Amino acid sequence: MDKYIGILTAGGDSPGLNAAIRGVGKAAQGAFNMRVIGFRDGFRGMVGDRTVRLEGAALSGILTLGGTILGTSRDKPHRMPVGDKVMDMTDVIVDNYHKHHLDALVCLGGGGTQKNAYRLMKAGLNVITLPKTIDNDVAMTDVTFGFDTALNIATEAIDRLHSTAHSHHRIIVVEVMGHNAGWLALGAGIAGGADVILIPEIPYDVQKVADAILERSRAGKHFSIVATSEGAISKEDLEARQKAEKRARENKKNKQSDSDDTDPYGAQVAESNTVRLSRQLEELTGLESRVTILGHVQRGGTPSPADRLLATRLGTACAEFINEGIFGVMVAARGDGVEPVPLEKVAGQRKIVPLDHPWIRTARLVGTNLGD
Ligand code: F6P
Repeated sequence: MDKYIGILTAGGDSPGLNAAIRGVGKAAQGAFNMRVIGFRDGFRGMVGDRTVRLEGAALSGILTLGGTILGTSRDKPHRMPVGDKVMDMTDVIVDNYHKHHLDALVCLGGGGTQKNAYRLMKAGLNVITLPKTIDNDVAMTDVTFGFDTALNIATEAIDRLHSTAHSHHRIIVVEVMGHNAGWLALGAGIAGGADVILIPEIPYDVQKVADAILERSRAGKHFSIVATSEGAISKEDLEARQKAEKRARENKKNKQSDSDDTDPYGAQVAESNTVRLSRQLEELTGLESRVTILGHVQRGGTPSPADRLLATRLGTACAEFINEGIFGVMVAARGDGVEPVPLEKVAGQRKIVPLDHPWIRTARLVGTNLGD
């Protein structure tokens, strides 16, 4: 055996993770004679040294499987809950890396995982990462795997909501995942022909959304689909949040507060933003409104062909980089190719939708209301 590599999947799961594990594993073993082991449940499994052999049969039949055969967790190496304490377990991870004589650790994950991998790189490990998340918010890559599958699921949901909204002359507010980035809501909203699309990058004015819906009614269209990102926020709420954050910062500086660990804004918002938006639209338009929260269904099930292809491309390229001794990088998608991007350029960055992005212009040009 030329090299020994370990693989783990961390953060929320995402369609295409198994395709990527297979891509790394098959290329590493078949083309470069490396030995591959997996760690269960992200960084937590590496701390506990819970391993899985990823050879031959273990890599067969997983290309089309959703989720991750390795399991995942959101635990961070430097802040891991252990019993009733939170501990820095970086040294344990470093020890287990050496115990298995690893030449590289492959971390498959989103923004948080890129940061954690960067920390492990600084602790002396040869780390290489792949960008996965349905949110598509990892910096320095054209796209992340998982996004295309979620886009398909959310678009199909919007398609289906159209006929029932139409039949009942209702507003349907559909909440799409994406954390604090609007890629999924914007993409699915455009592809599904939503009448209103609300994303975190464009704070909305609920009266303007109501006006757009009433305008449709006057034109004889007595139903509307509002696709809202889970992180979408009204102008009013944004202002209130910014004020609360400022207050919390000042209190912290003056040591007047004992609530440093609490979210200064979150506590004030008892009702889900999406449910409240639906209620406000009902009040402002006089039309009946319903809420559909797509939730984790967007992350489940078989990956789309585009995600399988992307994950396989990135996974096999990852094995090639390891063979060439290229570490401390994320394997980014760049056009039809790939590019190793230094982790320090990725860690702590988030790719949100730029206000001049062509998708935003496209949405406006087809008459979609973006709440502003
Ligand atoms: O990052 C992927 C994502 O699905 C986000 O869109 C969402 O905000 C979050 O994970 C949900 O996290 P969890 O699965 O831990 O509830």
